[in-house]
Amino acid sequence: MTSRLARALLWLPLVACGDDGPPPQPETPQFGSATPEELVLAMTLEEKVDQMHGSSLAAVDDLFLTPDNARLGIPGFRMVDGPRGVRAGRATAFPVAMARGASFDPELERRVGRAIGREAAARGANVILAPTINILRHPAWGRAQETYGEDTTHIGAMGVAFIEGAQEHVLASAKHFACNSIEDTRFDVDVTIDERTLREVYLPHFRRAVVDAKVGSVMSAYNQVNGHYASENAHLIRDILKGEWAFDGFVESDWVFGTRSTVAAANAGLDIEMPAATYFGPWLVEAVQAGEVDEAVIDEAATRVVRKKVELGASMTPQLDPDVIESAEHLALAREAARAGMVLLKNEGALPLARAAGTLVVVGELATVANLGDQGSSGVTPTSPVSPLEGIEAAAAPLSVVYIAGPSLTAADEATLAAADAVVVVVGLTFEDEGEALFNVGGDRDTLSLHEEDEALIGAVAALSDNTVVVLEAGSALVVRPFIDDVEALLMAWYPGTEGGNALADVLFGDAEPGGRLPISFPADEADLPPFDHESLEVSYGFLHGYRHLDAIGRAPELPFGFGLSYTTFSLSDPSVSPGSLDAVGSVTVSVTVTNDGPRSGSEVVQLYVRVVGSEVERAPRDLRGFGRITLEPGASGVVEIELSAADLAIWKDGGWQLEPAAYFLEIGTSARDLAFELPLTIGG
Ligand code: BGC
Repeated sequence: MTSRLARALLWLPLVACGDDGPPPQPETPQFGSATPEELVLAMTLEEKVDQMHGSSLAAVDDLFLTPDNARLGIPGFRMVDGPRGVRAGRATAFPVAMARGASFDPELERRVGRAIGREAAARGANVILAPTINILRHPAWGRAQETYGEDTTHIGAMGVAFIEGAQEHVLASAKHFACNSIEDTRFDVDVTIDERTLREVYLPHFRRAVVDAKVGSVMSAYNQVNGHYASENAHLIRDILKGEWAFDGFVESDWVFGTRSTVAAANAGLDIEMPAATYFGPWLVEAVQAGEVDEAVIDEAATRVVRKKVELGASMTPQLDPDVIESAEHLALAREAARAGMVLLKNEGALPLARAAGTLVVVGELATVANLGDQGSSGVTPTSPVSPLEGIEAAAAPLSVVYIAGPSLTAADEATLAAADAVVVVVGLTFEDEGEALFNVGGDRDTLSLHEEDEALIGAVAALSDNTVVVLEAGSALVVRPFIDDVEALLMAWYPGTEGGNALADVLFGDAEPGGRLPISFPADEADLPPFDHESLEVSYGFLHGYRHLDAIGRAPELPFGFGLSYTTFSLSDPSVSPGSLDAVGSVTVSVTVTNDGPRSGSEVVQLYVRVVGSEVERAPRDLRGFGRITLEPGASGVVEIELSAADLAIWKDGGWQLEPAAYFLEIGTSARDLAFELPLTIGG
């Protein structure tokens, strides 16, 4: 590592590469009119290799650069994080991806992706280092908040929407490819995984990012997969990504420590070493000259990189526009997305809060904090983030609001609480508890429980008030068993972004519905989940996790995947499948009627799971294969239609995708544990 450090230090000052060649000749092809192939053909070996690494270890104006080629007029990339907004100066901090995953609303996510892409371009970037589409294998994963949930079908739908929106302005980078679901050991851990689990559980959403959304770039993970670092994993990059999926973009490494070799990485298909050359650059030129890397490998990588630049065209050049950043439109979208992701986990009539003369007591230190989540690479710095207390105070009239910080309560506090009309307790985690592992902050969680003092505070408040609403903030699941029975309402707010306090008030007072459904299972007990080892450097990823694991071991979750209450009620009727059978290359449409039979307008998320009986291989008891969201006025009905293709049912067997002869059943409902209907699906009949 020492020599690597020395190599890295070479790049500390910004090195301008490839811009000192001879002045353009009349016959020299130029960016803007030449094809990628023509441009690469005109390059020297050194120039091609210059397309394959970043410019400096440190960001410049918060952007990570790759070199320009002045001779051919090819601009470099200007990359910026990340998944919940632009990590450069001030920007709109959207709710974390897990909160947006809870919306189960790809159209909303497309708008968020578009807004983040637009802000990235307005900051002068042309690549956004997002979305994170790693599977939440265990909720203790420190970076849980950056991804959309635990299920591949759901992550795929949300990731595709984000990418399509963002790529209206910049290139997106789907990350971290692949099997990156542990933080503390991320640089070294070797994930052992069988081919079927890889193909069916950890990769399908990446495939959709490539095939459906045509993502421009893919970032390799830090970790190893079956003994090879992801950045030099030929099976992942060459066989699957570039081979089977015909990915036409480029693969960039994750940042420092993301690239581990010169020859192996280049030959495996890594196209760009970020953020600076420590293995590529001059060492890659030498490897080509020594015959260890064929120049055709360099040509391929340079062509991939230049192709995406040519496709971006004029958008490669910075289009600075300060008016776009934190525009009123983007702040309104952040508020909408926060509301849409809040999940009502329990409600015994306490919500929505009545706006009548009286006293609302807000409790908890986090009530005064705009709790935005991780401060690592996904951190965003907004100008005026709104805390829960600020949001509630602005919306509460004619209620008067009293604030008690806690966690310990004085006698006067107890009297105030006992006399209150309603109490809202805001508790949860912060960037110190979970997130990207940075200098003893963040990292993986040791427990899924709340802090002891938070649990004690909830208990003390609930004993004094019979109208206690608890608002939870965290990036993924919490064990709520110790207090859920004691409180009248429980609302999961995640890390709700810059407008989180206003969005929370909208939901608490019923100006908006809590739109979310859980994109992950909340276990009753942590022991019900597969083990999460964030210390060992060797970890095995099994076929089952999340609801698939809980169903398989017959343990009821505390709160199931897909679950979330509304302020109204819905009923499902008339399920049908059309046509009545599915042939091996076809698709069917599954329909169900949803009726809002409650008192106010609201949204329901219908979920389609597939159950297979008589399989020859291990199966999850059910797999989500589609979902649809519908918003209905009171008394109204509408039909949700979900497409299901034969490919959605295939399993990886004997080196290929196969539709197993077995009995297939379609389960339709509103969570993994609330399945109103089951329809048999005939295959090939
Ligand atoms: C993270 C990436 C991020 C990159 C650049 C890495 O440490 O894993 O997700 O995009 O840094 O900030």
